[in-house]
Amino acid sequence: MKEISLSITYRLYSPSELCAADAELVEAARQATYSSYAPYSHFSVGAAVRLADGTLLSGSNQENAAYPSGLCAERTTLFYANSRYPEWAVHTLAIAARGSDGAFLTQPISPCGACRQVMLEVQHRHHQPLRILLCGTEAIVEFNRVEDLLPFSFDESFL
Ligand code: THU
Repeated sequence: MKEISLSITYRLYSPSELCAADAELVEAARQATYSSYAPYSHFSVGAAVRLADGTLLSGSNQENAAYPSGLCAERTTLFYANSRYPEWAVHTLAIAARGSDGAFLTQPISPCGACRQVMLEVQHRHHQPLRILLCGTEAIVEFNRVEDLLPFSFDESFL
């Protein structure tokens, strides 16, 4: 028997430490929470992506009375980005959320497993690392590649 450990790397920023381009992306993710359709959870999530050519797009969670038919903000945005601009890699994805009191969360939210799997596919299809910013009002967490959020993953190499 061998015990094997994997290590992941992430960086923690205070909002004032972000460069102008990242601050703009985070603000776009925050603004996108206002287009969320979340009558069931009252949890409004916004996502924004910067594509390799600099284009900025955003999206939000869209719920449904048949609960599993809804979609998270991250997948809404990534599917939109790849539908609209299939030729461009996604350089950075930023995620922000507001709770049922309408206030932005102070600490970053962490994406669900299904969204992580979709992020991995986006990274692989474009052969470029996808950078992720998880955004609270008091802290920003940065991952430079999806593997750090989804180690030991299933991908096309198994098929
Ligand atoms: N949600 C997202 O959009 N992204 C996440 O990272 C976590 C959860 C949505 C799904 C659902 O509409 C609501 O938040 C509550 O789970």
